[in-house]
Amino acid sequence: KMEDGPVNIREYEEVAKQVLPKMIFDFYNGGAGDEYTLRENMEAYKRIMLRPRILVDVGRIDMSTTLLGYKMQSPIMVAPTGMHKYAHPEGEVATARAAAACNTLMVLSFASSRKIEDVASSCNAVRFYQLYVYQKREVSATLVRRAEEYGFKAILLTVDTPRLGRREKDIKNKFILPQLSNLEGLVSVDVGPKRGSDLEAFASQTLDPSLCWNDIEWLRSITSLPIILKGIITADDAIKAVEMGVSGIVVSNHGARQLDYSPATISVLEEVVKAVSGAVPVLIDGGIRRGTDVFKALALGAKAVLVGRPILFGLAAKGEKGVKSVLKMLQGELELTMALCGTTSINEITRKHVQTEGDRIR
Ligand code: FNR
Repeated sequence: KMEDGPVNIREYEEVAKQVLPKMIFDFYNGGAGDEYTLRENMEAYKRIMLRPRILVDVGRIDMSTTLLGYKMQSPIMVAPTGMHKYAHPEGEVATARAAAACNTLMVLSFASSRKIEDVASSCNAVRFYQLYVYQKREVSATLVRRAEEYGFKAILLTVDTPRLGRREKDIKNKFILPQLSNLEGLVSVDVGPKRGSDLEAFASQTLDPSLCWNDIEWLRSITSLPIILKGIITADDAIKAVEMGVSGIVVSNHGARQLDYSPATISVLEEVVKAVSGAVPVLIDGGIRRGTDVFKALALGAKAVLVGRPILFGLAAKGEKGVKSVLKMLQGELELTMALCGTTSINEITRKHVQTEGDRIR
């Protein structure tokens, strides 16, 4: 029957919780420390209200947009998240097919459980690649070259992870690290006697905490792909990034998995957008669960948004079909929001369509 199955992202989360082992669901859904930022990422959206304009002809809604010249059916992209095989045996290949079917852009994680080559050959689509920089620079350089060779169109360098955030659920569950296919033969680490999270042990032996601004030049020297920095949440860093010549910025706190008590991303978006003043596209992720959230982010200046956990919930629930359904759901909700707000294209969504808490005080 048509009406069977989840009707929103919340319900997909419920299904994922039912079908996944606790260790995996907690890994996907958890955050760092007190998980204060995890809640705030979502709550902050609820404090922004919509200001619809009436009597606009909304017979046709066009959600399409472009990023770095690549066309997307909607500004809703797939965020890089690791280890999709824990949700479904097809892993990132299923996710890639769903993203392609929805004409949207997927960012493949450095911690992917499927090979770059397998994802590339799964279907024809524009994709970006997310990078972590390892102490052994050659590991990262090798993967950048492979991604470039296999047609990925941009590198998203994650800049909020000099060390792994403390994720207490993973420690308590003694999280088991699955095989990270792309790192086979490149990294060997000793996870040691089993006391806590394997990921933490792995990350502490691989991630390079000395990564700094100068390394943007290093990255530029090994690839001709555009570089986007993922994990900026202040105007100062955004200005610095533009000065360094990056091609884009993702306002992100890593889905609240890194620094707890960093602000909700939607609460700092406008600050970053103003600082960048149109020099490069500004994207955002963290806590987006509704089409109205997407609309709010666009109204506050985002060029596009990325969703992380909802994709994993869909993948766990129904594989490729589930991811497609999650993307379609968010696209449908955005389209309806645009119609009810009197906006027929992405460009028509402006700052005047939202009311923030700050606006109310003024
Ligand atoms: C992530 N994220 C992430 N980011 C990244 O740059 N590289 C990675 O490998 C991962 N892995 C990862 C795994 C899981 C299970 C989650 C939930 C998240 C962060 C991700 O790209 C994004 O910033 C957040 O997921 C956005 O928040 P929401 O949409 O999950 O609330």
